[in-house]
Amino acid sequence: MCDSLGKNIVCLRIRVKVFAFLVMACLAVGANAAPDKARQQYLINLLSQDCGSCHGITLKGGLGAALLPENLRYKSDQFLIKTILNGRSGTAMPPWKQFLTEDDADWLVKCLRRACFNN
Ligand code: HEC
Repeated sequence: MCDSLGKNIVCLRIRVKVFAFLVMACLAVGANAAPDKARQQYLINLLSQDCGSCHGITLKGGLGAALLPENLRYKSDQFLIKTILNGRSGTAMPPWKQFLTEDDADWLVKCLRRACFNN
């Protein structure tokens, strides 16, 4: 029924909807999705509860290295993001990629750098 553009108003509407959907889909894929507020709260809880069990409740170190801003100053974001997602083989640091996206890990590194946890 949709053989020529605009011939039939229903067909035109469908085309507009499909186009709008494609634009939205492209935007969603292209966006660097920073975690929303609820996810940020989840990540902060994760830091104190899960990460804190090894890195110390205030992240000053324990079984795991201290994760305070001065400890991370000379380490790159990429290096730390990789450590969080993949863990470090041969050490107790486990991989978190089943639970965290790259955006989550990126946010966590920035969070650690500004000591978000202790504020
Ligand atoms: C089972 C214990 C354990 C847990 C749980 C754990 N870590 Fe680790 N983590 C370690 C150890 C041990 C190291 C040090 C590895 C080494 O010696 O290179 C480490 C290293 C790191 C480093 C690199 C520090 C540096 O100076 O290079 C980061 C960043 C890190 N962990 C973040 C996290 C985050 C974020 C979580 C929670 C999502 C977490 N860790 C949970 C044990 C743990």
